[in-house]
Amino acid sequence: MKILILNGPNLNLTGKRDPKVYGKISFEELEKMIKEKYPLVDVTLFQTNHEGEIIDKLQSEAEEYDGLVINAGALTHTSIAIADALESVKIPKLEVHLSHIFSREEYRRISMLAPYCDGLISGLGMNGYLVAIQYLYARYANR
Ligand code: DQA
Repeated sequence: MKILILNGPNLNLTGKRDPKVYGKISFEELEKMIKEKYPLVDVTLFQTNHEGEIIDKLQSEAEEYDGLVINAGALTHTSIAIADALESVKIPKLEVHLSHIFSREEYRRISMLAPYCDGLISGLGMNGYLVAIQYLYARYANR
């Protein structure tokens, strides 16, 4: 089974950036955790600071995977373009946020992407990605 994890702007700084909000674990460390926990799942992590690159990835590659995890960072709250691209991707999709976006500033409580995802995990730190993989794996196994 193949899962694509798409991360947006500033998530490359995770581990160093505001650790009280986003945690101390980097995506390199998460990748190792995923390999240990889910050796049978082929997980690709992709991060970009550019909105258009997220859209290109959704359009050109996402459907080659069996499941998608998306954390579009701040673009979550603003990007109708990513929402439109996401709507066309017909595989199981989960939105993940490291922080609890509903307990933060008002402007973070809106997600343009949530209506086009099967679910949303927020506030569990890097564990949110592991929970997302667990869900997608179970769904794939029971398809
Ligand atoms: C985030 C939440 C966003 O509001 C913020 O802009 C981010 C990270 C999260 O994972 O908690 O960059 O998506």
